[in-house]
Amino acid sequence: MAKHRFRPETEAIHGGASLDKRNGPMEEPIYQTSTFQVTDSDEQVRATSTDMFYTRYGNPTHTAAEKRIAELEGADAALLFASGMNAITTSLMALLKAGDHIVSQRDIYGGVTKFLSSWLPKMGIETTFVNTTDYDQHVRAIRPNTKLLYLESPTNPTLRVVDLRKTAAIARDHGLISAIDGTFGTPINQRPIEHGIDLVLHSGTKYFGGHTDLICGVAAGRKDLIDTIRGTRTTLGGVMDPHAAFMLLRGIKTLAVRVERQNESALRIAEFLSTHPKVRSVNYPFLKGHPQRALAIDQMEGGGGVLSFEVEGTGEDAKRVSEALRLFILAPSLGGAESLVSIPVLTSHAMISAEHRKQMGVTEQLIRLSVGVEHVDDLIADLDHALSVVVGEPRQVAVG
Ligand SMILES: Cc1ncc(COP(=O)(O)O)c(C=O)c1O
Repeated sequence: MAKHRFRPETEAIHGGASLDKRNGPMEEPIYQTSTFQVTDSDEQVRATSTDMFYTRYGNPTHTAAEKRIAELEGADAALLFASGMNAITTSLMALLKAGDHIVSQRDIYGGVTKFLSSWLPKMGIETTFVNTTDYDQHVRAIRPNTKLLYLESPTNPTLRVVDLRKTAAIARDHGLISAIDGTFGTPINQRPIEHGIDLVLHSGTKYFGGHTDLICGVAAGRKDLIDTIRGTRTTLGGVMDPHAAFMLLRGIKTLAVRVERQNESALRIAEFLSTHPKVRSVNYPFLKGHPQRALAIDQMEGGGGVLSFEVEGTGEDAKRVSEALRLFILAPSLGGAESLVSIPVLTSHAMISAEHRKQMGVTEQLIRLSVGVEHVDDLIADLDHALSVVVGEPRQVAVG
């Protein structure tokens, strides 16, 4: 089937599916099976390289979701994994070997920081962390054995924005693979492959699933990279359950409408917080005053549904605010239809050193919000009420 060339809103519904008239079900059936039977040995051999051999190798329900995601991202191909961490760890293990070196920006998801700094060294792979928006430092960190540039944008939880064209060019000029965690962006807001990035990784648990009811990872990119990663996925075994892949397909259908609503509401909430006397700083890429706002507007359709802010007070005040919220549910995830609140030092970045957190600007006062699709005025009223519990002295709000 020839690739579609529709806009992302349309690919979210029809991506990867034939538009030919036919008699049959509207939806891709769930192939809830661990294996596939064949008539004879020749068929058995033929089936090995298809998605009807054994579900750890592939499954037609996976294929439907993978094709849809590839079209959304503008990628040659995509793969599903059992979790976002599984997509990232399997991809890096597939593409690197002992003796290789990674240059990674410092502001990345805490679980990946841990993998790069504690697990990959056991396999002889070293990482140098660089300041996220200092591209000269990225270049200076490149060694003869550097193989991969690891990026995340916008970053979790400080919402820094990475220049995708510039980093893709650095990777190209030095013969490196560029890989980005695009979870916060989603292909509705940013499509890194269009800017020259080789591999896009996602925690599909978040916006792709969209309903806080499944765990999933995604890798999308160039065919040669995806083929290599597919082989490693089969060996390491981190595949998704077919039923969860079906729920993922259903979630993706509403990705565009959810993200558009979340973009609008998150900006309104960031604006509200930026004038609040109990707030010290606000991080949101499309908010006036954000240091990379022009870049964000240039390479993104919207700022996304996540923002973070520091309360004007102590870590205890931040905890009190997060507990006083009623509509923002206290839970460590993001990207769902319902709004969530979390304190990164206790959740997404609890597993990394206090020193590394300090360098990232992840303080005890920092609160991360994932804005859902509720009415924004109700969410603002909830925040206004919760902030009344902060006891610290008010100061001028900083943006960035
Ligand atoms: C930016 C980012 N990348 C990766 C992950 C890991 O994804 P998962 O929890 O699906 O393994 C997360 C999880 O919070 C995340 O926020």
